[in-house]
Amino acid sequence: MTAVAIIGGSGLTNLKNLRITRREVIRTPYGEPSAPMVFGQLGGQEAVFLPRHGAGHTIPPHEVNYRANIWAIKQTGVDKVIAVNAVGGISPDYLASGTLVVPDQIIDYTYGRANTFFGSEHKKVTHVDFTFPYCESLRQTVIQAAARTQFKVVGRGTYGATQGPRFESAAEIRRMERDGADVVGMTGMPEAGLARELELCYVSIALVVNPAAGKAKDTISIKEIEKNLETGMVSVRSLLEQVIPLIVQG
Ligand code: HPA
Repeated sequence: MTAVAIIGGSGLTNLKNLRITRREVIRTPYGEPSAPMVFGQLGGQEAVFLPRHGAGHTIPPHEVNYRANIWAIKQTGVDKVIAVNAVGGISPDYLASGTLVVPDQIIDYTYGRANTFFGSEHKKVTHVDFTFPYCESLRQTVIQAAARTQFKVVGRGTYGATQGPRFESAAEIRRMERDGADVVGMTGMPEAGLARELELCYVSIALVVNPAAGKAKDTISIKEIEKNLETGMVSVRSLLEQVIPLIVQG
């Protein structure tokens, strides 16, 4: 049985170390997911991969069909999801590019995104608990796997999810810092909330690719981000390969 799904973010449109066995287009009541599901083996275990921004990295964060993606993942029968997200660093421990963060909290600053499976078409008003937005057992597994690597990993942190696609102003980042956000990205929500609604055990591995706006002496350089994405995702792929066997054992 396929044990785990991986949602790839910017810089991770394919998993080079996934031994692909098949691809499947999954249709959902919410439209099409970002790409066909890619099934294969990673770290000797069955896994399924979905690139959030599409196979050719064409779907911007605010246009991702998060509901279709999460629904399609649920259809594959997995109950665990590892999402990979590129982020900017806000607080001091999170500023260095290449840092891998396993967030334990999230703040949603996004708007206008289809963010629930429980709208009025749903038979009954339904609420879900989101006190701890990420799956703690899977977070601990990721942290445990990370300890076996040489990468800099921070095992907690608050992810601030912004609307994008533009980066933030320096004042917006100062506000987010006052709110307690440690990193900022554009894709953490509504994905985490939707996963909770479908009772998926969901975690994020957030790769810091730049200091957030106003946190370095220069403005944000897209070139720099692209370079950091490329090098950082090598670490992410390698971490994923270490995590997957631990999940299946656990
Ligand atoms: N802000 C928002 N999203 C991001 C950033 C950022 O600085 N870096 C990577 N994704």
